[in-house]
Amino acid sequence: MSEANVFEPKIVAYVCNWCTYLGADLAGTTRLEYPPNVRIIRLPCTGRIDFNLIIKGFEVGADAVLVSGCHPGDCHYTAGNYHARRRWILFRELLDTLGFDLRRIHFTWISAAEGKKWQQVITEITEQTRQLGPYTDLYADGGAKDLPVGTPVPFTTRTLAAETALREHCRNLLTEGTVKVVVGYGERGPAVVTRAEDANRLVWNNRCCSNLTTYLKRKEIKALGKPAVVVKPCDEKSLVVLEKESQIERKDIHVIGMACEGVGEPKCTFCTARTPRFADKTFGEPVGPETPVSPPPNRFEALMAMTPRERMAFWATQFDRCVKCYACRQVCPMCYCERCIVDKNRPIAIDPAPSRKGIFAWQIARAFHLAARCVGCGECSRACPAGIDLALLNIALHKAAQENFGYDAGVDPAAEPVLGAYTLQDKEDFIR
Ligand code: FES
Repeated sequence: MSEANVFEPKIVAYVCNWCTYLGADLAGTTRLEYPPNVRIIRLPCTGRIDFNLIIKGFEVGADAVLVSGCHPGDCHYTAGNYHARRRWILFRELLDTLGFDLRRIHFTWISAAEGKKWQQVITEITEQTRQLGPYTDLYADGGAKDLPVGTPVPFTTRTLAAETALREHCRNLLTEGTVKVVVGYGERGPAVVTRAEDANRLVWNNRCCSNLTTYLKRKEIKALGKPAVVVKPCDEKSLVVLEKESQIERKDIHVIGMACEGVGEPKCTFCTARTPRFADKTFGEPVGPETPVSPPPNRFEALMAMTPRERMAFWATQFDRCVKCYACRQVCPMCYCERCIVDKNRPIAIDPAPSRKGIFAWQIARAFHLAARCVGCGECSRACPAGIDLALLNIALHKAAQENFGYDAGVDPAAEPVLGAYTLQDKEDFIR
């Protein structure tokens, strides 16, 4: 092979200004030689390194990406690196699920005095990447496999008996003025009832699949006065998260819980929530056992059994159908920002084009913004007009939060949220 054909890896290194950058500088001033394959990008702190930058690195042609900052306890901003460490624990799982090759993503702590360590890390990463060869799997085409499909759980007539009692209760609430509006299910989807005589519009049947808590964030609903909302046990968890994030005051909402054996949606095949736990009033008989009523389809396991390249190809094929209608965002009770990051154009953080690159960027941002917040209601998958099973990304992050921090969003109102907090013992076995 001629010298011109030898593969020289490109490594993009996002480094903290206060430690690693100075460590790299020290390596230079003390004339420690290291491969010239690294392109350094200096940022104020590892806590400031946006997850999208890692993807951007690959998009501009990097074969490997390095993120490096101050050692724990040395951060210039006290805890930026501790927060970054937490985010990376979850973010790595998301990237793995999407099919990014984790052997090409590196994290390290390098202080201003560790010029030698910088030399060593860059030499090792360059050699390792050289062995792996050029990165050509980004948004890979071809070879996509399908996932197994679950059997929907039938809706039982036993559940229907609750409908009459539900209507009666809502009629009383509106007559007495306990609430000003009831957000429930109607024949053709969600129903907003403000008059007692309209309570008969409310239904409880196998089409009651939406998570209605998403309406509580709407200005139009807030303007009507105190609401009552009908929730299934799986939806009720959203209320716990929304209250934790100061989006609702639980005491200002009347919660009507419906015991549920599943409403016939694919998401019901793996749902284990059967009886509302936090409702002010519950209808329907508590049903058990608290286990899935049919075997879960193991779609997630099937996805993770693929090679990273196959997973990337799977998602590329799925995302090619996305038209960026943002139904997944609109239907999600946890997406409540006044202005979503994807709508901001100064600067443009996420490519707004419905191109493969733009869709990957959007779906990564959407999923990661829901990390350790998603309650698994599965509405994103249900609402997607292109039939993309977006909840698989949320499942990956949910599993990561459960396994690493024992955290289940929406289950324990007293549990501390995963992101926004940290402990000195957080795992860092993936950091050099
Ligand atoms: Fe270096 Fe925060 S200042 S990681």
